[in-house]
Amino acid sequence: MAQIVFDHVTKIFEPDELVLDEISFQIEKGEFVFLIGKSGVGKSSILKLLSRQEEASSGRIFVEQKDISLLKRKELPYFRRKFGIVQADMRCLRDRNVYDNLLLVMRSCGVSHRGSKRRIMEALGRVGMIHMAERYPQELSVGEEARVLLARALLTEPEILLADEPTANLDPDSAWDMMNLINDVNHQGITVIASSHSVELVNIMHKRVLTLVEGMLVSDEKNAGYSSKALDIFEERRVQQLREKKKQRKKYDF
Ligand SMILES: Nc1ncnc2c1ncn2[C@@H]1O[C@H](COP(=O)(O)OP(=O)(O)O)[C@@H](O)[C@H]1O
Ligand SMILES: [Mg+2]
Repeated sequence: MAQIVFDHVTKIFEPDELVLDEISFQIEKGEFVFLIGKSGVGKSSILKLLSRQEEASSGRIFVEQKDISLLKRKELPYFRRKFGIVQADMRCLRDRNVYDNLLLVMRSCGVSHRGSKRRIMEALGRVGMIHMAERYPQELSVGEEARVLLARALLTEPEILLADEPTANLDPDSAWDMMNLINDVNHQGITVIASSHSVELVNIMHKRVLTLVEGMLVSDEKNAGYSSKALDIFEERRVQQLREKKKQRKKYDF
């Protein structure tokens, strides 16, 4: 059975707003899937249903063979650790530095001090931000903060990354960087589901694309889209990012 199964899932927000209309799809472990569609079409709702932040009105959702509607309240925190979540409207806490923002997550999972340090530095290394561990969020650019938030999402070693409009607030360069990083995460075996309304980004990534229209799934295409100009920019940013990471690893002996 696939890692994620939506089986005729309908979501109605009371009293009568039909947001998702009998949506069915399956996602295998390690896939990278874009969810696209106009604003208000139900992309965020799908991601929230999956991590049980919302409940389906009818139909069933399975994650690793388990019908998630059967999860008990006390099982939810553990279940949610399967997911790393990044959303465009997330921010770091302003009253503490990058390291301490991440430490908070480790504390809430009960990880030891030593274990925390290793995992935090590892997560910051994955997004090329080790050198900014002691900075405060207000000393970061929007793109840098987004990278820290991605690191935060990866701290619990999730199996699935849910990225809700991860590039929505970013300038084009930072948006390519973010997509690159998310692609790296996927190459490390983590399933990625990303919502986006950036046609150019989705085109160049050449991934599976689920398209929603008015709450209905209208297409499911493998390796969708292609744009050669966008590919040049993507590759350029990729190389720059690799160089940066290498430099940092050398400097911080990581
Ligand atoms: N908690 C909620 N209560 C009522 N309506 C909601 C709620 N969350 C989302 N909606 C509505 O559901 C629709 C789909 O929202 P959403 O899933 O956020 O779409 P998208 O992410 O594609 O922009 C919208 O019309 C939105 O207003
Ligand atoms: Mg949304």
